[in-house]
Amino acid sequence: MTIPGPELTPPTPALAEQVLGWRSHPEVLRWFLMQEVDADEVRDWFTSYDGTDGHLVVATLDGRAVGTASVRVADGMGQQGHEPEFVRREGWIGYTVDPAYAGRGVGTALARDALANAFGRLGLRRVQAGCFAANTASWKVMEKLGMRREQHGVRDSFHAEHGWVDGYTYAILAEEWEQGGH
Ligand SMILES: CC(C)(COP(=O)(O)OP(=O)(O)OC[C@H]1O[C@@H](n2cnc3c(N)ncnc32)[C@H](O)[C@@H]1OP(=O)(O)O)[C@@H](O)C(=O)NCCC(=O)NCCS
Repeated sequence: MTIPGPELTPPTPALAEQVLGWRSHPEVLRWFLMQEVDADEVRDWFTSYDGTDGHLVVATLDGRAVGTASVRVADGMGQQGHEPEFVRREGWIGYTVDPAYAGRGVGTALARDALANAFGRLGLRRVQAGCFAANTASWKVMEKLGMRREQHGVRDSFHAEHGWVDGYTYAILAEEWEQGGH
């Protein structure tokens, strides 16, 4: 039997409430730097989102919100006098899946949508993301979509449970995404 894939949909206030139901689950929080979820901030984000300044998408299965992904637009690096080349030309992606629905391809579908929007609709030239090295599901999502491990930081990240641990940074360029066929 084939398990149906998630539907990807823009955020709504009702979906925000569903996401808040699992976003603070310990299995989710253990991989984030921020250890508290500000419910009002999430509600505001979902309510005010209009797509002009980034990307936010919700994955649903049977109408239930089971994951989210986002693109935050940021400045790249570059020399003074050439700002149009690098100011607001990069993105950072993030994604989260309800642990009850992990391992069903939802995270990969969400990250694929985030990258497609980053390079398509938002016209960014490079997208990055970071994770704890022990967060295998997260870096597998990135590698499945053609992102490159550009940094392996040795014991560069402090984890509440494990102390100093390794971290990874991944990235992909627009031209690599276009050639990759992901
Ligand atoms: C990272 C996360 C979004 C992945 O979502 P998901 O829907 O489970 O991912 P997918 O089902 O698309 O699986 C992607 C790959 O990870 C693997 N994977 C999934 N869960 C795994 C786990 N717990 N341990 C090891 N690998 C895992 C899958 O097998 C798949 O690899 P494969 O195709 O080689 O088999 C999800 O685990 C999550 O929300 N984690 C907590 C929040 C988080 O870490 N966000 C990212 C912060 S950097």
